[in-house]
Amino acid sequence: MRRHASVTGDRPHNSARMISVVKHTATSVVTIDRFIIEEERNHPEATGELSGILYDLALAAKMIANKVRSAGLADILGATEDENVQGEVQQKLDVLANEIIIKAMDHGGRLCAMASEEEPGIIQIPEMFKCGKYALLFDPLDGSSNIDVNVPVGTIFSVVRKITRGRHGELEDMLQPGRRQVAAGYVIYGSSTMMVYTTGQGAHGFTLDPSIGEFLLSHPNIKIPDTGRYLSVNDSYEPLWDDNVRAVMRQYKGMDGDRRALSTRYVGSLVADFHRNLLGGGIFAYPANKKTPKGKLRLLYEANPLAFIVEQAGGLATNGSQRILDVEPTELHQRVPLYIGSKNEVELARQVLSGPAPALAGA
Ligand code: AHG
Ligand code: MN
Ligand code: MN
Repeated sequence: MRRHASVTGDRPHNSARMISVVKHTATSVVTIDRFIIEEERNHPEATGELSGILYDLALAAKMIANKVRSAGLADILGATEDENVQGEVQQKLDVLANEIIIKAMDHGGRLCAMASEEEPGIIQIPEMFKCGKYALLFDPLDGSSNIDVNVPVGTIFSVVRKITRGRHGELEDMLQPGRRQVAAGYVIYGSSTMMVYTTGQGAHGFTLDPSIGEFLLSHPNIKIPDTGRYLSVNDSYEPLWDDNVRAVMRQYKGMDGDRRALSTRYVGSLVADFHRNLLGGGIFAYPANKKTPKGKLRLLYEANPLAFIVEQAGGLATNGSQRILDVEPTELHQRVPLYIGSKNEVELARQVLSGPAPALAGA
């Protein structure tokens, strides 16, 4: 089902060499730390700062995984002892994830500032710590409304280079198009915890082995199938879509045209829906609708990082008319319509959405 690219001979990198030597097996002992170091060796000019950011993010992910795993238990305890605690634990898990990431990242001297879904403005590095040359943008807990029903949630992150001159990071550092990302990734807290990231040398997946507390390389060089199996979209917005969106959905479902119908799968956690489609092939769509004319998902810490990953895996991401990675940001929490996944399905969305309004049966 999952397909990995051939790495024999076509990429003379250390990480590629390591992938070809260490096959994907249950006994893989390539830790995420080792993999990051190997990738860094491909860049003799690297200072190790980006690697440090990725280590710290992996640590934060383990800490969040731990909280997510015990959230149900905290719920049970809260329900028997104190209803307030129960309510707080559930509502505050995304706030807690936010704090964990900030605390894990603010003191390393590698970041000039951060931005989070949970904070209105940019997060400065405290005065007592050194400022670095990168900026981090993140969604600390994606799909957090699912947490109380034990459905997978995730964390999404994006790293860009500082472009302003001052010591501290500024809004301008955050508002860079996605094609300028130097690293991006996500963590899925599912039946197992996985971290998938890219630095532009392929997309690689690591599964947390809870017995030793290490992320181990389990999905090297992920490739998304060109043609998808799954369609992930919230169909309840159908009455609010415009005719072009309806037309493309009808084609995905095999109701118009000559395409094989996709199977509908919608978790309601972007990370979970994206991850399934990345491995199995498919498209995730969150179109603009009459109530949310710019879509719902955020460009800088949801769409951009996943678009970087999907392109590295051979897929595509568009807002309907433009490649996601080329959208020029103007606001920190900017929303964007998103069509992301297998090449053929995303290309169909682009064609239909940027074309003339179709004549729909019954319209
Ligand atoms: P978040 O929990 O970070 O606010 O993100 C929720 C998002 C995303 O995970 C999911 O794909 C989408 O909201 C679901 O929205 P609908 O309920 O409108 O389908
Ligand atoms: Mn989210
Ligand atoms: Mn969130």
